[in-house]
Amino acid sequence: MTKRIPFIAGNWKMNLDHQQAIALVQKLAWSLKDHNHDYSTAEVVVFPPFTDLRTVQTLIDAEKFELKLGAQDLSAHDSGAYTGDISGAFLAKLDANFVLIGHSERRQYHSEDDSLVQAKTAAAFRHGLTPVICVGETLEELETEGASAVPVRQTLAALAGHEVLLPFVIAYEPVWAIGTGKVATAEEAATVCRKIREAIEAEHGAGVADATRILYGGSVKAANVAGFLNSADVDGVLVGGASLDAEEFSGIARFQKHLAL
Ligand code: 13P
Repeated sequence: MTKRIPFIAGNWKMNLDHQQAIALVQKLAWSLKDHNHDYSTAEVVVFPPFTDLRTVQTLIDAEKFELKLGAQDLSAHDSGAYTGDISGAFLAKLDANFVLIGHSERRQYHSEDDSLVQAKTAAAFRHGLTPVICVGETLEELETEGASAVPVRQTLAALAGHEVLLPFVIAYEPVWAIGTGKVATAEEAATVCRKIREAIEAEHGAGVADATRILYGGSVKAANVAGFLNSADVDGVLVGGASLDAEEFSGIARFQKHLAL
């Protein structure tokens, strides 16, 4: 079995300008250093807004921080007349390693559907970025279809039709748990993550399923992170609100310490 390194991701959403970004990234890196965080046991990735990326990249480079960088979205196209959109080529040039695709807020407020999510996933692969494909059901879908039907369907749609399936990450974020303080139980999260892995295995083989990191997201805090990561089916977390507080996010990244308690 492949050893999947836990993936701790902070999605800042539309928060923090590039100057505020410097302060947060510095505090986060210093806090992790103070606590002797070993990045080989948990990868830590920040996803700032586009306008912060260059600043954060320069800071990470200059200070040799071990944090990794991701963007919150990319265009399905590589260049051209797409006003306001951002090419994966630009993100790759900024040394972004990861890109969020199909976050529920993009699906909801920008009408992104499964075929666009698939096309954006292809764009990420073309530019050597690792897509973090976000999936999850609304409260209504939970009630009508159960917990795993929608995330499994969205996962398979995003992964369909690629010539080569490069490494990717799946983030299971139940829409009803995002920013609401309503958290899925560790068992609920683990069950859906396991169903997603089984579906990947059935469609793309055991090797891909085994190597893929599947995250939980939705009201994760330092106080509840250990419960999610206790399960072999959950390989990390995608954190919104709590990633805007350096100490809190550092506490999440150091979840292994909570597990040891
Ligand atoms: P919260 O952690 O604020 O619930 O947000 C989760 C999320 O949407 C991360 O992408």
